[in-house]
Amino acid sequence: MCGIVGYVGLPEKSGEHQALDVLVEGLRRLEYRGYDSAGVATVSGGVVQVRKKSGKLGNLLAEIEAAPVGPAQVGIGHTRWATHGGPTDVNAHPHVGDSGRLAVIHNGIIENFAQLRQRLLAEGFEFASETDTEVAAKLIGRFFAGEAAGDLTAAMRLAVNELEGAFTLLAVHADAPDRVVAARRNSPLVVGLGEGENFLGSDVSGFIDFTREAVELEQDQIVTITSSEVEIINFDGTPAQGRRFYVDWDASAAEKGGFPTFMEKEIHEQPKAVEDTLLGRTDAEGRLVLDELRIDPEELKATTKIIVLACGTAAYAGLVAKYAIEHWTRIPVEVELAHEFRYRDPIIDETTLVVSISQSGETMDTLMAVRYAKEQGARTLSICNTNGSTIPRESDAVLYLHAGPEIAVASTKAFLAMIAASYLLGLYLGQLRGQLFSGQIADILADLHSVPGKIQQILDDAEQIKALARQMADTPSVLFLGRHVGYPVALEGALKLKELAYIHAEGFAAGELKHGPIALIEEGQPVFVVVPSPHGRYSLHSKVVSNIQEVRARGARTITVAEEGDEAVQDYSETVFHVPGTQPLLMPLLTTVPLQIFACALASEKGYDVDQPRNLAKSVTVE
Ligand code: G6P
Repeated sequence: MCGIVGYVGLPEKSGEHQALDVLVEGLRRLEYRGYDSAGVATVSGGVVQVRKKSGKLGNLLAEIEAAPVGPAQVGIGHTRWATHGGPTDVNAHPHVGDSGRLAVIHNGIIENFAQLRQRLLAEGFEFASETDTEVAAKLIGRFFAGEAAGDLTAAMRLAVNELEGAFTLLAVHADAPDRVVAARRNSPLVVGLGEGENFLGSDVSGFIDFTREAVELEQDQIVTITSSEVEIINFDGTPAQGRRFYVDWDASAAEKGGFPTFMEKEIHEQPKAVEDTLLGRTDAEGRLVLDELRIDPEELKATTKIIVLACGTAAYAGLVAKYAIEHWTRIPVEVELAHEFRYRDPIIDETTLVVSISQSGETMDTLMAVRYAKEQGARTLSICNTNGSTIPRESDAVLYLHAGPEIAVASTKAFLAMIAASYLLGLYLGQLRGQLFSGQIADILADLHSVPGKIQQILDDAEQIKALARQMADTPSVLFLGRHVGYPVALEGALKLKELAYIHAEGFAAGELKHGPIALIEEGQPVFVVVPSPHGRYSLHSKVVSNIQEVRARGARTITVAEEGDEAVQDYSETVFHVPGTQPLLMPLLTTVPLQIFACALASEKGYDVDQPRNLAKSVTVE
């Protein structure tokens, strides 16, 4: 939610990179975080130059072409997901203070901005925009010109100590022309280390073209970068150290790699995302070893309850996790949307394991819920794709996905990787508690390792799905039904269609159909049904076949996703997408894929931008 980038290079003459090029490249990579408007500020020749424009980055580039900013080695850039104030040119960042000599960009929400604004208005300050950011700009400018006596770091420190809420702030000043100063509270910020140049980014993709050496910051810290130094202090002024890490993917991983969109590329990367997530998690004897789980195995063994917290697609991965983990460990698992969890007085103690699932590791709702759980004494474990992000850093343990950077706003490959990682966690706990025999674990792992090849098969055979999507481009509504682990898959199928194609779509547990949703069925209503394996337990397969018949009898167009060799669905389906079989609990890794392809193809057919759907942001860093 809002992308932020900062750069300081060598002095103008010898500088290899121009600030503007670095900023634009960074914004291009961070645009998935927000694309309501974009802006940059550069410092050179004793002035700060600001260019900003509503709409996507292309609009800003046209603006810069019409009014070039000239060479500079210091600058900040922003791509916005609007919170305070609509997505207009005026509300776009940067905002200026100190008579235009200071520029500030911001991610987050300053909760006490109204009071601060009143105070500043009373002092004679004037505001051009409706944003909370401009309040921060005026405040930093006021301190710079006064109490901080021209020290930009000191001015930032004085200002942030007056701010409430969540923020990453970056500031440049014409009278401190060799530096960018940044502060973070509850909002992401990473430092990139170069040779004779240093970088700031909301995440490492903001500078991945230039360096893979990075520094993670703690909560409530201020960092000042010059071309040769990175200095970190806490909000109370005491010196601090960041944690250095190396980014294990390069710029090419964040390119489209020949695909027309990131979404298509990421759907096609799923075999590798699952494979890499499974990689290196067993020892020579075939026992699962999850080394990154920094919680004492004895404590994990003593777990009496697991609560999975997540939002959006990650929460659906959590629902799949529940079926598997309960089955393999006999530990009760609750799954809850993170934003609901902390406001309901949940029952937690030190034998509760709270598992958060987040691609970005920055989702504010999830982060706040994890913090709350920690305060209540729970052990916290993060399943996350982004190294250097806040949620894994603040959790007791982390299980990283190795899905590589996910750029398209709507999640695909991270979803499958989250599910795979949840299986690993479930199997590990089952192993620790002696609930599963080693042979059982080995069998499940062998099946898991065969999944990437099966996903590839679905991808290679996607033409039928795409053709159906093209044919259904005008459909106003689609329903999705599933049972058992097929239920979260139905929810995810509906979510993908809403997010990408802006079509009304609902996912239901197939058993719930007769309790209400069946009233929605009328002639021609498309209904996708995720059919359980015919080899599974509890005769679920035949129950779902009955559900298919029920909707079909009322005029629905039934489209089924069924296991290869499942003949029973044929007669009741207008279209069947066959997927290879595997153990019933592992089926979501396969049945999800046709639904992703369908949503993506249908949205493309309608001419929508599948990488940057309207109103969405990839990383939602506000509550
Ligand atoms: C946003 C994205 C979703 C994502 C959700 C959770 O709403 O648009 O695609 O599933 O956040 O994100 P996380 O990074 O926590 O997995």
